[in-house]
Formats: sequence, C-alpha cells, structure tokens
Amino acid sequence: MSQERKQVVVFRALPPDLLARIEARHDVTVADPRRAEELPRFLAALPAAQGLIGSSFRLDADLLDRAPALEVISSISVGVDNYALPDLERRGITLCHTPGVLTETTADTLFALILCASRRLVELSSLVREGRWTRNVGEDLFGWDVHGKTLGILGFGRIGQALARRAALGFGMPVLYHDPFEVQVPALAGLAVQRPLDEVLQRSDIVALTLPLTDATRGLMGAREFALMKPGAFFVNGARGGLVQEDALLHALDHGSLRAAALDVFATEPLPLDSPLRTHPRVTPLPHIGSATHETRRAMAELAVDNLLQALAGQAPRHAFLPGRFRTA
Ligand code: DGY
Repeated sequence: MSQERKQVVVFRALPPDLLARIEARHDVTVADPRRAEELPRFLAALPAAQGLIGSSFRLDADLLDRAPALEVISSISVGVDNYALPDLERRGITLCHTPGVLTETTADTLFALILCASRRLVELSSLVREGRWTRNVGEDLFGWDVHGKTLGILGFGRIGQALARRAALGFGMPVLYHDPFEVQVPALAGLAVQRPLDEVLQRSDIVALTLPLTDATRGLMGAREFALMKPGAFFVNGARGGLVQEDALLHALDHGSLRAAALDVFATEPLPLDSPLRTHPRVTPLPHIGSATHETRRAMAELAVDNLLQALAGQAPRHAFLPGRFRTA
C-alpha cells in the first residue's frame, strides 16, 4: 500500500539529494523564514503543514498555532531551545533532533576556542595579516599555557564528555564538571570529577559551557558566577548565548579579573553590529560554527531527514526529543 503524501515545509536549505528523498514521498514547500522575501511563503504553507524540517529559527507558540495539522518537527540540531516545548507536548507533536552525530565536531570547536582564548591565536594572526608583525613577539603578546591547566565544564553530556577526553587525555588537564548527574566514563576515571557549581568556578583556570539552554539554565552565568571565577581565568561558550548574562560577562572582562573569553554563541544571532562583544580586545567571537563542518552538517541533515520520514510514515523516529504519538507506555 503506498504511503499517504503529506505536506512538508523545509525551512532551512537541504542538500539536493536529501530534499529529493522527501519530495519522492511528500509534497514539499521550501521556504526559509529568515529571508524576508521567503517569509510570506513559509507562513502561507503553515496551515496545511504536517511536517517541518529545518533549524536556527524560533518556532514559538504563535507560529505553531498557525499549523493545526502539524504532526512532526524535525530539527537539524541537537539543541531544541528554538521550539515552544510545552505547546508541542500539549498537542502531542513529535519533536526530533540530531544528537550524537555532532558530538566530536562540537568538542573540537570547544577545544579550538580554549586554544584561541589562551594563546591569543586570532588576535596574533591578525597582527601578521595586517602587516603589524614588525618585531619579535614580546611579553605583552604572550599567551598562557593550556596543557596542565584545570578545566571546568558546566554540563557533562555527550559534548562535555568529549571535551573532557580531549583535555584530560590529550593535554593532561584535570577536569572538574558540574552536572546534576554523576557520569561514569571509564577512560576518565579519576581524571574528571563532579563538583558543585561554585567549586568548579572557583577552582578552574578555564570554564567551558556545554549545557543545554532551558528555563532552568537561562542566564546561569551572571555577576555572581563570574566573580567566583579564579583571577585570570578564561571563559568559553560553545553551547548557547542565552546561558550567559552578557552584561555581566563584559563587566567581568572590564572591571573584574576575567582574562579573556572565546564565544561561538550569543544571546542574539547573528551578533548585532553594535554589540561590544564583537570588537572587545579580549573576546574571540565566532559565528556559531560548533557543528559546521562538511561531514557533520551532512550527517545532521541525513539524520533529520530520516527522523522526519520515519515519523511521517508512522514509525518511531531514531531520535525524538518529544515522542508525541510515539510515546511508549
Ligand atoms: C545544535 O545542533 O544545536 C548546534 O548548536 C548547531 O545549531
């Protein structure tokens, strides 16, 4: 029996072969609502939409109300902070995401942020690029060692653990982590230790965020938390900008004792041109590239398409954050 064709809205570009997989089974509207010229087509497609696939766009309760036939959202991301979770749960809509396939790439990015902040890589590279390398680098331009330093990781899920492996096994760094759960990773036994938040902040030379943005974690890093950090410590965020009170971060850099920050994520993205974080001399800003490699973005898109097609065919998808109608008793 052939499967019923359903209405799907693709709200972020997919590789042509993956788009074709969806088109072979369903009627597809491609419309990126972040482009002003495509927003009307996106909105017009919502009333009939049964499946949505995409990422990096906030689907709030008002937008979801315009999609009364919706059965599944397949997000091309591991983070699900862009979706109105209570509304989806109430309506029994399945929300799929892409954990696992981006773990190692995102941990690579986080380690790169640590190296950038500590060794001043971007700042010193621009010296060369801009023709300002006119003498041997002296003390004023030295960085700080990374190997052997204590790394504090807030959030010890897949990405936090992958970062800890790099730090502990590759760079001889003791790891302290804060997470509601004590995690047993055999390779990290005795090398990564669970501690309360304040102790992690007080004892770490580098603090990295790898936890999800939820109502409970929003604004987690505020004035009190930055003040608890070691004088001269580094701060790295590769998770979500909303975890950080950005005013407090700037205050800690300018008036506290935070040495530098490397940030892949911001409260508002793309980072507004007037944000002081964009040009601050001790901030290395990156444009949310945690998972942005050819291999990983391809794997994420494949997994998201699998999730979508499975859910629309009435099969439990591989990775449902909210199971919706696939909830088991
Ligand atoms: C994710 O998957 O949540 C990453 O931040 C990429 O958007």
